[in-house]
Amino acid sequence: MNDNKTITDIKNRHSTRAYKKTPVPQDVLKEILVSALYAPSGSNHRLSRFTAVKNPEILQQLNQLVKKAFCELPQEGLNAFQLAAKKHSANAAYNFYYEAPVLIIASNEQEYPNAMADCAVALENIFLAAESFGLGTCWINQLRWLTDHKEVREFLAELGIPENHMICGAAALGYSDEKTKNRSERLYDIISIIE
Ligand SMILES: Cc1cc2nc3c(=O)[nH]c(=O)nc-3n(C[C@H](O)[C@H](O)[C@H](O)COP(=O)(O)O)c2cc1C
Repeated sequence: MNDNKTITDIKNRHSTRAYKKTPVPQDVLKEILVSALYAPSGSNHRLSRFTAVKNPEILQQLNQLVKKAFCELPQEGLNAFQLAAKKHSANAAYNFYYEAPVLIIASNEQEYPNAMADCAVALENIFLAAESFGLGTCWINQLRWLTDHKEVREFLAELGIPENHMICGAAALGYSDEKTKNRSERLYDIISIIE
């Protein structure tokens, strides 16, 4: 099994949290985005949408908006992940997408029951396709948590993300600038095979 390229890519993929400024070639980006279209979707509905933002000014504006939104968010009712994100947003050097050269936003219709599942399987395709091109990725959840935030949604609407969509997640994408390989441990005892 050691020479199986797909398995190797699956095992090598990890969340990358530091990126080079090197741009992602347009043909590579397109191929990675197309990989999302080949993911399964509930009843073949194919309602997910993938918006790739490369423009550095737009990404910086979005970062400032996300920082402001988290800083202003009342603590009450936030889960542990959201509280951590809020705390993190107070840092002067805050950047929710780790200054990756590309942010791919996955959205889907709010009323569609498989919205999250469809986007999640497509994002994994994106992660694995990126890995196959030697690119790093990371799931970015801040826009999901701010999916109902008025100013954030107005900004995303200007990028063409439909107002009836929920933001399900996003992917930072770019060439890794990590100095060490951070691999989180896998516990194989969660797998069982019933013969
Ligand atoms: C639903 C979901 C949300 C996540 N949100 C974030 C996030 O906002 N920021 C981040 O740095 N990593 C995020 N991650 C990445 C996880 O922290 C990461 O996948 C996990 O620690 C395992 O590490 P690995 O991806 O390197 O295998 C998220 C992952 C998932 C599946």
